[in-house]
Amino acid sequence: MTGAGVSAESGVATFRDPGGLWEGRRPEEVATPEAFARDPHDVWRFYQHRRRALSACQPNAGHRALAALEKLAADFTLVTQNVDGLHRLAGSENVIELHGNIWIDRCSGANRPPGEPSCPERLLKPGDRGIDNPHCPVCGSMTRPGVVWFGEMLVPAVLEAADQAARSCQVMLVAGTSSVVQPAAGLSSLAAQHGAMVVEINPDHTPLSPLADLCLRGPSGVILPAIIEQMGQSQESH
Ligand code: OAD
Repeated sequence: MTGAGVSAESGVATFRDPGGLWEGRRPEEVATPEAFARDPHDVWRFYQHRRRALSACQPNAGHRALAALEKLAADFTLVTQNVDGLHRLAGSENVIELHGNIWIDRCSGANRPPGEPSCPERLLKPGDRGIDNPHCPVCGSMTRPGVVWFGEMLVPAVLEAADQAARSCQVMLVAGTSSVVQPAAGLSSLAAQHGAMVVEINPDHTPLSPLADLCLRGPSGVILPAIIEQMGQSQESH
């Protein structure tokens, strides 16, 4: 499982580290349904700005190590809280994006009659900003970025898939997250309860640290590639 720290070495700001602001604004003020209801154009300006900033960011050695690990491991699921799309860009395939993806344009459903099925989403390529203040081609509602905002529920099927992966894994690597935001933070306890070895990868202590079987202190861009290297060496020696 990964959090914002895994993208820090790609130049993406985290949430809670010093300087963890997005474009000079607190995420909690602009990434909310209330902010969108009040001024959707302002929220879109903010997200277009963020997309522009992200399109200059490339996956780092930590992202690439996780993509390599997926190929080495018999069964591997990457659960991420990040919305930047960098894991897929690095080549990870089995990715559960708990908090959505900033490169998705999704219908806000404001004009859709109750009970109507959801309108299709559009996945942009990283770097493509989409249209400014776009509208859904099906129902005409304003579109919104496909991320989970503060105060919103996670998509139940996505959370269930992450729960299932946590319940059934043998080892859970938890990299670059402060482990304070639920329900994501609860996944590592769930994995531990079901017998998994939990390994934290983070330069700092977090609420997960006392519960983890092992804490590897350092940047994920250094530690994750070192894990892959060790795995390669131990496979060679068998
Ligand atoms: P945070 O900003 O809360 O935590 C980032 C963590 O990464 C901290 O524990 C840092 O110590 C660690 N870190 C910093 N640099 C690192 C590096 N190079 N390598 C490894 N770790 C490093 O970010 P998250 O835990 O991802 O939710 O935040 C969780 C959620 O809080 C976000 O997904 C977001 C926010 O509310 C939504 O937007 C719904």
